[in-house]
Amino acid sequence: MKLWSGRFTRKSDHLTEDFNASIAFDSRMYRQDIAGSKAHAAMLAKQGIISDDEKDLIIKGLREIETELETGQLEFTVEAEDVHMNIETFLTQKIGEVGKKLHTARSRNDQVALDIRLYLRDEIDELRILLIKLQDTLLSLAGDHVETIMPGYTHLQKAQPINLAHHLLAYFEMLSRDLERLDDCRKRLNYMPLGSGALAGTGFNLDRDFVKEQLGFAHITRNSLDAVSDRDFAIEFCSFASILMMHLSRFSEELILWSTEEFSFVEMDDAFSTGSSIMPQKKNPDLAELVRGKTGRVYGDLMTLLTLMKSLPLAYNKDMQEDKEALFDALDTVKKCLVVFDPMLSTAKFRKENMSKAARGGFTNATDLADYLVSKGLAFRDAHEVVGRAVLYCIENKLTLDELALEKYKEFSPLVKEDVYAFLDVPECVNRRKLAGGPAPETVAKAMEEARLFLRRVKND
Ligand code: ARG
Repeated sequence: MKLWSGRFTRKSDHLTEDFNASIAFDSRMYRQDIAGSKAHAAMLAKQGIISDDEKDLIIKGLREIETELETGQLEFTVEAEDVHMNIETFLTQKIGEVGKKLHTARSRNDQVALDIRLYLRDEIDELRILLIKLQDTLLSLAGDHVETIMPGYTHLQKAQPINLAHHLLAYFEMLSRDLERLDDCRKRLNYMPLGSGALAGTGFNLDRDFVKEQLGFAHITRNSLDAVSDRDFAIEFCSFASILMMHLSRFSEELILWSTEEFSFVEMDDAFSTGSSIMPQKKNPDLAELVRGKTGRVYGDLMTLLTLMKSLPLAYNKDMQEDKEALFDALDTVKKCLVVFDPMLSTAKFRKENMSKAARGGFTNATDLADYLVSKGLAFRDAHEVVGRAVLYCIENKLTLDELALEKYKEFSPLVKEDVYAFLDVPECVNRRKLAGGPAPETVAKAMEEARLFLRRVKND
């Protein structure tokens, strides 16, 4: 029998049951649902709404149900529609009449608002650890590659020399902001909604602060209509997740590109690569490609939630049951990607020789030559023109700027002296860029120290 059958004279069509049910996907919140119910029952007893004996019976029953669900002794049914009514039905089957008192002063609307918050909060705490672990890996890799010179690119054309540490630390920065966004999301979801009832609160004298404390929330929600119909926190999470995935996707793209024979900057470990069913020679960076690909589905989850909520009148509407699959998909996807990204990255072998060779070609020190001329008194715009002509000459004669003879240099500008060659030395070009935020090894060392402090701080938060 349905928990809401009183008003009905005919049974639900099985099509209605199937279409309406959410148990197939909301069952994963059973621990949170049970935790919420225990706190609610304890509070009802504290307020004298149920007796202590009744509370004990309810809590014991819920505890047993949790164990039986863990061990697979209990099975959810579509007839009971969702996780909330499934558990309430189990409870009444187990402890009899007293079970029917649990739902006093509560609605599934505030119950589901609570469960999603609790579930997402637990998942955020796990994700946070994974994200920090990836940052740890980035930082330790950066430490290995402060002297690894590589070309920096714009438009995917060689631009100026940098080192790999600086490149890796760029991703560290992105992930730091992602972590802050995640922490922000947690802060804003950490409000306890029970006591909001279906939409208009309840006349019972509940102790909302007690439930808040029991469940480790920082605050109680301030408006019952908002509390049951707000899914901002899920949207905010998917927005965090989309941005994080965008970052991982950019990084993946670089790893994919760098693993090509044409680049040969990196070799992914065999354990984190795959082969081809037809081409025996192949070793493919499938994991990085999948991370790049899965970014699309997380964006899709964000769009799903934004579109789902955009015209809903206050307060709860059944449309909102559609929030869970998108949110869970984003959660699962991001978690899987972080889990695999970390070892994929830490086992990758960066080919320092190839990187440094690539940095020596492509005139990555041309800006430095212009800067050299500026240091000798030429205006930058004129220096730019002079170097442009020298570069053209080198291209036509298959030379690099450091191979150009001094006599030839003098034809382009009499300001060039013997010291130009030391100035154009590619590692020197990197060493010179000492400004805060730049790639010089000593600046990178400072950036790594700051990164270490950041990690120490967030690990203690
Ligand atoms: N399964 C529902 C959901 O996920 C629970 C809330 C149902 N409330 C209601 N009034 N039908 O949204």
